[in-house]
Amino acid sequence: MGKIKTGAYNPLPVAPIVLVGANVNGKPNYMAAGFVNGVNVKPAILYVSLNKRHYTPKGIIENGTFSLNIPCADYVIETDYCGLVSGRSADKSGIFTTFYGELETAPMIAEFPITCECRYTGQKVEFEMDTVYFGEVIQVHVNSDLLNEEQKIDILKANPIYYSGIENRYRTLGADMGPAWRIGREYTPKQASATQESVESRYRCAIVERPAQPALTIRSRAPLMALARTIGESMAAIAQYAGRQGYIPAGPPFVAYHGFDGREQDVEIGFPFNSGVEGKTSIQVSAIPGGKSAAYHYIGPYDRLPEIRVGLQQWLNTNGYTPVGVIYENYLSDPQRTAPENLETEILVPLLVTDGVAPN
Ligand SMILES: Cc1cc2nc3c(=O)[nH]c(=O)nc-3n(C[C@H](O)[C@H](O)[C@H](O)COP(=O)(O)O)c2cc1C
Repeated sequence: MGKIKTGAYNPLPVAPIVLVGANVNGKPNYMAAGFVNGVNVKPAILYVSLNKRHYTPKGIIENGTFSLNIPCADYVIETDYCGLVSGRSADKSGIFTTFYGELETAPMIAEFPITCECRYTGQKVEFEMDTVYFGEVIQVHVNSDLLNEEQKIDILKANPIYYSGIENRYRTLGADMGPAWRIGREYTPKQASATQESVESRYRCAIVERPAQPALTIRSRAPLMALARTIGESMAAIAQYAGRQGYIPAGPPFVAYHGFDGREQDVEIGFPFNSGVEGKTSIQVSAIPGGKSAAYHYIGPYDRLPEIRVGLQQWLNTNGYTPVGVIYENYLSDPQRTAPENLETEILVPLLVTDGVAPN
């Protein structure tokens, strides 16, 4: 694959968007910022990089304090407004309910689920257009309903906004790719010395054509953290109902992934049956669509499936296939009796068929 030089710019694909707050001339002022991140763990030091013409830096210098306010997606319009309009020409103090914490001069936004107050360390780095200010985090304020039993922030509930600079759009969180600081343990020297051919072969799959199949399914929406439980409960409900009716499944249970709206995954959970079945309440008669699909046989723990789905779609795209429609996963093993590393799953990605032929 060839590389193309596309110029000198910031290629980081997404940045969390915050509103930087400071009291300027005695009034709270908030501005949007994407040039913000942490630089030291203990003490917790953050930086914000602010254009010299902005109004907010005046307040940081005046008070020696500022705040970072992490918006949830519900406030994307107000957040963008604070990035369009300067406090020099418009009073932004009434957009939100302001509260103060220990520092008393770092204004924070009550409507936002996570805010933090910072003491300006007095350290700054000057560039031509922007000045980078460093601040020590004094306190982080979190909505109580965001904390789980371990008192950790449930980031899906916080639903933060990301700025995708390359597209100039706002986005929310995407797929869960697996546990950080842990998934790398699966890296093996074999992968390190892999040739291009073996990397290519990692997602090699069979192209299959299957007829449509009747099914009994439950359609649900669930946040990613609750997905496994939703799937398990729905499968149990369908199995119990089918048992009572005397219906015998024609294959393993499956889940169809209909879409993710940034908060919840839309899934259809079911079992295939031969025709003649009837549904009841939330258990619907549905059909697994027929046609050409890429079939990938995956052996390993279920928590890696989101990552495998993404890798498989990328592999298909770069190998001349056009994935279309809804991905189906057939769970071939019984998780009650199989070790996670031995669980077998068939992932089916429907393919676009041009002139009756999918590329092979
Ligand atoms: C998505 C987005 C990200 C921004 N990121 C920054 C940033 O990191 N640094 C900066 O100086 N301005 C940034 N801006 C621009 C300021 O938020 C904007 O100029 C604002 O009006 C300045 O407000 P103030 O003059 O009241 O301080 C951003 C604007 C948007 C919409």
